[in-house]
Amino acid sequence: MISSALQSLRSGKPVLIFDSSDREGETDIVVASQFVTPQIIRMMRKNGGGLICTTIKSCHARKIGLPLLEDLYSSNLSIGNALTDTNDMKYDKSSTFSITVNSRDTFTGIPDIDRAKTVNHIADFIGNIKNEKPEDFARIFRAPGHIHLLIATDGYFKNRRGHTELSTYLVEQAGLIPSATIVEMLSDSGYSMTYDETKKYADENSLDIITGDEIIKYWGENH
Ligand code: 5RP
Ligand code: CA
Ligand code: ZN
Repeated sequence: MISSALQSLRSGKPVLIFDSSDREGETDIVVASQFVTPQIIRMMRKNGGGLICTTIKSCHARKIGLPLLEDLYSSNLSIGNALTDTNDMKYDKSSTFSITVNSRDTFTGIPDIDRAKTVNHIADFIGNIKNEKPEDFARIFRAPGHIHLLIATDGYFKNRRGHTELSTYLVEQAGLIPSATIVEMLSDSGYSMTYDETKKYADENSLDIITGDEIIKYWGENH
């Protein structure tokens, strides 16, 4: 239920989002970036196991001057256009990957304490973005780093229906700083966990699990 998921996010609890069986068919663990702790990063890498990423809205990425990696590659690499061709991508038309960053106040950037600090600093920056200048971002962060930034597509579900948009929208609807930290749930089978496996995990751990369809229906009724 959306209201229960929003309440969980507000209390710093993880929520699981299954995108759709006609897309990735994956479930991501989602936490509001402002509430990420080293314990949450540990839980994400052990129980999720995919790539830990932090989302931001496209208006904020533009203000900071952060690009999508596919734009950066296609305009700066001689093989960039060929490399970023997504014709053979089976589940979507584009990715939302931007650059990777570390807070400058970390050591290597990868331990749970470092990654949580980088995520918290991203949330702080976004929460105070009205007063920030692009150069302030480079004062606080170094790139490349160990947190993958993802940029939610403008207009949310008008244009894309990935976990990037689903999680950022939900965190924003919860009234929180609009940045989510997410990770895919992988299985020991070598594949991603199925919906049924992630539903079982949600039930065993008293977590909300919601689908992309539920979130998009809520968006349709509320925007
Ligand atoms: C980064 C990814 C994940 O699938 C993540 O869920 C974000 O991507 P998308 O918005 O395409 O679902 O690729 O690990
Ligand atoms: Ca993906
Ligand atoms: Zn995804």
